Amino acid sequence: PTIYFTGIQPTGIPHLGNFFGSIEPWTELQNSVDKNILMMLSVVDQHAISLGPLPANELRQNTHQMTASLIACGVDPNRTLLFRQSDVPQIAQISWILGSLQTTSKLARLPQYKEKKERFKKGDIPVGLLTYPLLQAADVLTFKATTVPVGEDQSQHLNLLGGLAYAFNKTYETEIFPIPKQLTRESHARIRSLREPEKKMSKSSGGPRSRIEITDSRSTIIEKCQKAQSDNAGKVTYDKENRLAVSNLLDLYSAVTKTQTSEIDFSNWTTLDLKMNLAEAVDKRLAPIRQKFEELQNTGEVDKVLTENGEKAREIAEKNLEEIRRTIGFL
Ligand code: TYM
Repeated sequence: PTIYFTGIQPTGIPHLGNFFGSIEPWTELQNSVDKNILMMLSVVDQHAISLGPLPANELRQNTHQMTASLIACGVDPNRTLLFRQSDVPQIAQISWILGSLQTTSKLARLPQYKEKKERFKKGDIPVGLLTYPLLQAADVLTFKATTVPVGEDQSQHLNLLGGLAYAFNKTYETEIFPIPKQLTRESHARIRSLREPEKKMSKSSGGPRSRIEITDSRSTIIEKCQKAQSDNAGKVTYDKENRLAVSNLLDLYSAVTKTQTSEIDFSNWTTLDLKMNLAEAVDKRLAPIRQKFEELQNTGEVDKVLTENGEKAREIAEKNLEEIRRTIGFL
């Protein structure tokens, strides 16, 4: 059977990269695919400590805010099994099993590891940073998911995951795991930083002005758009090679308004017009999300969703884990 699975780190409030790379495509799938298809979305709080521990209350709050944000963006907990990763301990056991099929050198070659390890002194790199992709693979394989919708930056992890599913099946002469397929939409699969357009928009680097978060106020959105990097060429043109920053703002405008860049008539726009039009469009798009997010505060709904869905996810995981344990000789 087809099973969709994706994960998102509880970084608090998601930014427009998460929104266009993952959340919007997810809600579109959720609202269009056959109702019998299982759709699972995990708030991956265990991944959130891969760079080292966080204060407990901060992690708890981040998980809560991310879950509320997802619901505010249109993830429907009646249709999507929205759950917290750490509520399903089976995933960690499967991650350990997958570690027996992986080499440290292959993990150490992954670009995200190489980039993130630079934040630490040699000898101070947390183990979790290296084994991060095993946990991600375990997320997907625990539920025997077949299709994984993600933004472009996750391709490296998806390739590794496919290799692990294949290696497991081959080693144990079984077909337990489907080889999961990455699903990345063609447009807006990589949203860039407002300050450094060579880089992706990200929570973990670049500073608050490099990203717009989905609950930002109108005035914050205007300020961030005004201060976004551009150039002094005056009129707007779409030219990724020579005017990456301006083209990036046009791409974002295109994502927010759901139009192709080729359909936007920007011939009379100055770069300031572009920034103001972008701010206006972002604010219009985010206003109802902001409102829904506010409504969800202090209702208990988020906790209820996590508790109920955690149980459902555990049930599926336990059943699959039993089969895996038999296969490898634990049971
Ligand atoms: P995370 O939490 O960094 O991002 C969540 C989702 O948002 C997408 N995304 C972006 N898309 C376009 N442009 C950007 N600037 C941008 N920034 C983030 C990501 O591609 C992702 O789809 N390792 C994963 C979480 C994870 C996971 C999983 C994903 C854990 N287990 C199992 C899929 C399946 C991560 O850190 O995503």
